[in-house]
Amino acid sequence: MFADLLAGTSQTPITVPSRIPSILAFDSGLGGLTVFSELVRAWPDADFVYAADDAGFPYGRLPESELTARVLAVMDRLVAVHRPDLVVIACNTASTLVLPHLRRRFDMPFIGTVPAIKPAASASRSGRIAILATPATVARDYTRGLVEAYAAQCRVELVGSRRLAGFAEAELRGHPVSDEELMAELAPCFVEDESGRTDVVVLACTHYPLLLERFRRLAPWPVTWIDPAPAIARRMRDVLHRPAAHETVPEDHGGRLAIFTGGEGLDPPLRAALAARGLGQVVVDPIPLVAGH
Ligand code: DGL
Repeated sequence: MFADLLAGTSQTPITVPSRIPSILAFDSGLGGLTVFSELVRAWPDADFVYAADDAGFPYGRLPESELTARVLAVMDRLVAVHRPDLVVIACNTASTLVLPHLRRRFDMPFIGTVPAIKPAASASRSGRIAILATPATVARDYTRGLVEAYAAQCRVELVGSRRLAGFAEAELRGHPVSDEELMAELAPCFVEDESGRTDVVVLACTHYPLLLERFRRLAPWPVTWIDPAPAIARRMRDVLHRPAAHETVPEDHGGRLAIFTGGEGLDPPLRAALAARGLGQVVVDPIPLVAGH
């Protein structure tokens, strides 16, 4: 099932475009930028668009039926306007719930982002791992299924943080929160008993790698942090059968398009942060959040 979600095997066969593909990366907000950067690095001359459903942020607080309806409604619009060849759902909170619905509704392949529990269990020597995610992701049946399937032999801390995604956005916007506030969210990941202590922490929300440097500094002891972005970029290349001719490519041009469904926080520092990630054009396509949508 894990492989299915990541790879898009449970859908119609993939038609590989002969031209440069158009790839849409999607998240509730700015966290998907951590995946977007890896996608661009993996295929710099592909045609990328980044879409942030900031009018719906944070997804972690939405009930499941509401989140499903919301993502489908926003994706209807994005697909109609941008006609991507492939979509990357750069959001665990959405992927662990909505991917099967998206794959039923649209013809193009969808690659999801789901908690990297299998690699964490293999990497751990102590058998103590932590999954740091939104409260919604840790509550999902899908996530619980991954733990049972791949980490039954481990002690797994499922840590659902209500505040970290917002803290990560604040960091990117140049308004970092205090170490104390960050540490209060991070501390439950670190457990220690007579036979060992946590040695792997999975960043199971795409926002969290934006805080990774600070996490490293604040951690009570060194651990391996797992950011799924490089694996997702490899998956994109595999799904689209990136030909060898694309191995050497020109420098990234930096003028890619970012779309926001709300656009409230689009101040100059945020625009500068987007431009620094190659998103030089910013458009607001308003899709207000209404109950059930
Ligand atoms: N970036 C999203 C994820 O990977 C979550 C943030 C939110 O709650 O919207 O889960």
